[in-house]
Amino acid sequence: MTAPAPTPVVHRVSDLRAQVAAWRADGLRVALVPTMGALHQGHLTLVRHAFTRADRVVVSVFVNPIQFGPNEDFEAYPRTLEADRAALATVGASLVFAPAAAEMYPQGFATAVTVAGVSEGLCGGSRPGHFSGVATVVTKLLLQTLPDVACFGEKDYQQLQVIRRFVADLDIPVEIVGVPTVREDDGLARSSRNAYLTAEERGVAPTLHRTLQDTAQAIRSGAAVDAALEAGRRALLAAGFASVDYLELRAAEGLAPLAALDRPARLLVAARLGNTRLIDNIPVQGA
Ligand code: PAF
Repeated sequence: MTAPAPTPVVHRVSDLRAQVAAWRADGLRVALVPTMGALHQGHLTLVRHAFTRADRVVVSVFVNPIQFGPNEDFEAYPRTLEADRAALATVGASLVFAPAAAEMYPQGFATAVTVAGVSEGLCGGSRPGHFSGVATVVTKLLLQTLPDVACFGEKDYQQLQVIRRFVADLDIPVEIVGVPTVREDDGLARSSRNAYLTAEERGVAPTLHRTLQDTAQAIRSGAAVDAALEAGRRALLAAGFASVDYLELRAAEGLAPLAALDRPARLLVAARLGNTRLIDNIPVQGA
């Protein structure tokens, strides 16, 4: 069987708007899946999910410079547009929007969307400015596309909460859908950054998910939250992680820190394996 033709791509906001307007004129529902490219099964799952909610799915591919800190991997981040278009064709994505940085942030660009509360702590603590960069670019992508629905992975759980917050606060007329994390057979969450892992690190990486499960089980069984989290941190360091940015129990809605499992919760972790920072999270319900 021959491979399907790569998903069509536009680079300009005006072309994106023209295509979306044509679909709307035909009475079609439109979904947006924002990505930074280097697509893997997790992204393709988002696209499949988007098709359960809409007739046409736009996938944006943009490595957003303003969400990377000065010492982060912006330059090294994989850029694989042709492979991404081929992968998207296998799930029937309707259009790729791949703007240049100058299309998104022309000379004189001076606006930021900043979200208090949910942006603070966790990844917001170790990556200052990151969520303002995400909120700004996602606001632009939503206003450029004007989709009915936009899909985001739960793997970036804090990001999802930040997006839900500003979409509600700014009255952006779009439904935000969170899609459960796609994992490898050994539990490692799919991520574009897994490509950075050496073979040895790849062997250690599933400990992240296992530690989340063990910690959640201990908390559900009545262990003191602080003690369970401390045991989890020690387990990660013992397995070979270089450092643990955070391992925390937070309220599933709004991300308030929790000292006890008194409402639906989320256990979230970020840890460094060699030069790679991995994140993951799982839900924790009371017994
Ligand atoms: O999750 C990501 O890949 C990015 O943060 C997003 C939402 C595409 C914004 O650049």
